[in-house]
Amino acid sequence: MSVPSSFRSTLGVPTALVLSLCVAACQPQPETVATSESCVVPRIASSFERLPPAARPADETPRSGILPTPVLSDAEGVAAGDCIRPTLFQIAAASDNVRLRGSAGWTRISAQFYPSEHGRYIEVAVNPLAVGYLRFEDGPSLPVGAVIKKHGFRAFQSGAVRPGPQFLMEKMPPGYDPRVGDWKFTLIADTGTTVGETLGRDGDKVEFCVACHKSAWRQNFLFFVPPEYRRKS
Ligand code: HEC
Repeated sequence: MSVPSSFRSTLGVPTALVLSLCVAACQPQPETVATSESCVVPRIASSFERLPPAARPADETPRSGILPTPVLSDAEGVAAGDCIRPTLFQIAAASDNVRLRGSAGWTRISAQFYPSEHGRYIEVAVNPLAVGYLRFEDGPSLPVGAVIKKHGFRAFQSGAVRPGPQFLMEKMPPGYDPRVGDWKFTLIADTGTTVGETLGRDGDKVEFCVACHKSAWRQNFLFFVPPEYRRKS
């Protein structure tokens, strides 16, 4: 597996030094856009490689309770996210979903990739009509055309960092879906292909989005970014 030199060079180096190196080295480099397989968490990759091949855990999707999900430190999550972000944008740019295709320049809301459920590390971005999201719990009900995106990655048993699915919420005209404040939920697979959109194509595959987000009715059906990961603007 090929590994960017900035990642290799951090092996065995104290975290504080890694952090300061990362300020310069972990920025996305436009001329060397990483592929998903070139992003690794060095600490996990090196302990995986030290195991005899027969003793290595299967490099499969971590499943809670079956295969443990690697837990990353904050610095590892940030470095892995900065490495994989260009790949997530490439997937978005080639997607069949027109909203996702235009999303690379949206305003990032989270200060860094942060841990979500199921071993995912995520970040949240909004289109210009959704800037009211920046006021979080105190924010207004967002206008028609506001779109919020959540994308992220997972770290695997081998240390590989791979793109995850991408999630959209788009505010639709009044009456679209009164159950959830007229938000439309769209799930886009890690390949960039749309899985389904609520009350639209393959809507049954994404009804589970409604079931959960309904519980956030007190705050416009949004869950928001935890305070410690909000970008200070
Ligand atoms: C089991 C509950 C649950 C389900 C199911 C769920 N979400 Fe979420 N969603 C969350 C939580 C919690 C957050 C806050 C960020 C995080 O921790 O992942 C969130 C955040 C989001 C955000 C960022 C906006 C916000 O709420 O702050 C989007 C966009 C989103 N989800 C879309 C979707 C889509 C699309 C689906 C279905 C494919 C879906 N969600 C299914 C719980 C859920």
